[in-house]
Amino acid sequence: MLEVPTVPSPSVTPQPPAEAVAPLMRGLDVLRSLTAAESGDGTLALADLARTTGLARSTVDRICATLAHLGFVRLDGRDASLAPPLMTVANACLDALRVPGVLGPLADELADELDESVSLAVPDGDGIRFVHQVLRRRALSISFRVGDALPGGGCAPGLVFRDGLSLAVDDQLVERGLVAVAVPVRGPDGSVVCAVSVVSHTSRHAAGELAGAVRGPLETCVRKMEAELNQAPLLDESQRGSGQSPATEDEAPATIQSLARGLRVLTAFDGAHPTLTLTEIAEATGLARATARRALITYEHLGYVTHEDRAFRLTPRVLTLGCAPLSRTTLPRIAAPHLAALSKRLGESVGLSVPDGNRVRCTARVTPRRVMSVDIGVGSRLPAKDTAAGLLLRGDGESAVADGPEAGLRSVAVPVRDRAGRVVSALDVTAHQGRGDDDAWTEALRDTAALIAADLHVTSRFVSVPVH
Ligand code: PHB
Repeated sequence: MLEVPTVPSPSVTPQPPAEAVAPLMRGLDVLRSLTAAESGDGTLALADLARTTGLARSTVDRICATLAHLGFVRLDGRDASLAPPLMTVANACLDALRVPGVLGPLADELADELDESVSLAVPDGDGIRFVHQVLRRRALSISFRVGDALPGGGCAPGLVFRDGLSLAVDDQLVERGLVAVAVPVRGPDGSVVCAVSVVSHTSRHAAGELAGAVRGPLETCVRKMEAELNQAPLLDESQRGSGQSPATEDEAPATIQSLARGLRVLTAFDGAHPTLTLTEIAEATGLARATARRALITYEHLGYVTHEDRAFRLTPRVLTLGCAPLSRTTLPRIAAPHLAALSKRLGESVGLSVPDGNRVRCTARVTPRRVMSVDIGVGSRLPAKDTAAGLLLRGDGESAVADGPEAGLRSVAVPVRDRAGRVVSALDVTAHQGRGDDDAWTEALRDTAALIAADLHVTSRFVSVPVH
């Protein structure tokens, strides 16, 4: 994987103000460390987390227990990993920024037209942060993720912001072979809202020639984007809170309340409420004004929130809280812990499948260890007509039952739907006949499909999540 240079932070960190909430600061530190984990997948051993944050192991354990209770982190033996519901925090930021939601579809069109990667970036401190990515030419995958940052002088969008250029070229600044052209997109008041980049490879375009080759479509795209920003379509209220609401912090005695409460402040913002006053934040979160105020002081100190007069707003730095690793996931990865829990609950083999011609292909499977067990591996392709998953994916029912794929086997399947309600995968249990009750299985499958879908929906709000 490409090494991602980070935006340099000031070498001297100023002392936090007296009113800053220390447990909230520590919790954010843990989330940032998981986000920056070398593996790139948001997982660290608890011991490593103690090392990277400089916190005592007992403190790390307590913070992780609180974050796990909120659904933001998953604890698995000695490891902690970022969990999809944390994406509600990044979504609040992406929604409030409005750039990815309003301009993302136009960036997608440009990528289609040019058959090149296209990204949208906003200024963040001295650097830039990506808020939308459309990847093309996967063989050469340059993989900045939504939420990743680059230094201002080291990439095309950074030069657009730093030097006020109307067109900037990155001739292999970031990586050998990588060339990019970026142009500014201006809001109705003339200020630069974001930069659109077209990213290619020297095998396709030399840097000097890329600008000429893409200029026409890029300029047309920017005009459309600026027109879109001019119309300023604020999202309507019906779109509010389409993420999951995390568990309330008061349920578990061991939770660090000030951390749980402080995190609620971030998700008060959205596309319809990109700025909020203290009173509005207290109202939206149900927090006491004094609690909300101290959380805001903490966030401002850390650069996650700014204010102008009485209007507070999130900064793109909020995307350092989980966005990049969580945005690069797949449906089988999202489903894995839910499949494990279901397999344990039923004591049987459970899995996900997608259509593949007149077959179904298994994309994830968890099979309990026992003497006689179902042997369907990830990647195996079975005739659609012989499996419940296949029947389900061919029709549009709410459940399907089949005897097969071999004599003596029985399977039951239910759909997993995307945000638009389309069936994207089938969740099944497959076992030897006579071992389970179809109705009980169907109910358990539905419970699990709902959990998988909820995680998929929150993750895929601003990024696309492959179903296999
Ligand atoms: C990108 O990956 O989107 C990218 C990389 C380097 C640039 C601009 C964009 O200079």
